[in-house]
Amino acid sequence: MKALGRIAVNTLKSLRRVTNSAVSIFLYQPKGTEGEEYHKWYYNTFVWNKTTWLGIECWKSVADMWNYQEILFDLKPSLIIEFGSNRGGSALFFAHVMQRVGIPFKVLSVDISHQRLDPVAKSDPDILFVESSSIEPAIAEQIKKLKEEYPGRIFAILDSDHSKDHVLAEMKLLRPLLSAGDYLLVEDSCVNGHPVLPGWGPGPFEAIKAYEQEFPDDYTHDAEREDKFGFTFATNGFMIRN
Ligand SMILES: C[S@@+](CC[C@H](N)C(=O)[O-])C[C@H]1O[C@@H](n2cnc3c(N)ncnc32)[C@H](O)[C@@H]1O
Repeated sequence: MKALGRIAVNTLKSLRRVTNSAVSIFLYQPKGTEGEEYHKWYYNTFVWNKTTWLGIECWKSVADMWNYQEILFDLKPSLIIEFGSNRGGSALFFAHVMQRVGIPFKVLSVDISHQRLDPVAKSDPDILFVESSSIEPAIAEQIKKLKEEYPGRIFAILDSDHSKDHVLAEMKLLRPLLSAGDYLLVEDSCVNGHPVLPGWGPGPFEAIKAYEQEFPDDYTHDAEREDKFGFTFATNGFMIRN
């Protein structure tokens, strides 16, 4: 009898918890600014430059990193192109995800200087770190060669010099190299007031706009992915090649 009573009390407690939770979720009305406020908090506290992947700096929002992991799993690219290596934490993150995805792949990570590159990242056999400006014709040649060696989808991420002219040049360099279905991520398009660092000046966001004025049919924006976690450093920067 006692046991039955306990079960009834516990069932009632569970029901009350479920009902209260359902009601509070139903009554929650987002104001539409939560994501933007969190974005500003995240950016302006510099938590992103204290973020590490297995001990190596990875200057990203963790929500973006999770999103990239999901994209990589869905896309299963054989070639990842990263412009802007810094310590190599993001290149290592991409390589580790791809190692678990389990198909043959290569990460090409380009940076104008290897001074800050971490030796652990540098020694990963799946990553090719190249010291060069990302907009050198030699980089396009390198990508062409890697495409032959690693045919299949490409995931490209622009995270180097965040000026409009430089990002536009990177997008143009990639134009003949990406094919339908390949993914282009333009990072840090959040600067210049989208919504952070309003005084930055024309940056990646403006580069995307300029590119799309010149080549309006090249990309479709992946709005669902961009919106998935409420904020991203790649504002308007999730793009799938048509
Ligand atoms: C934002 S950091 C990259 C962060 C890295 N992807 C990460 O998530 O940890 C930008 C990097 O771009 C590099 N860079 C600046 N100008 C460049 C250029 N013209 N070509 C290639 N890399 C450049 C800088 O040396 C710097 O390491």
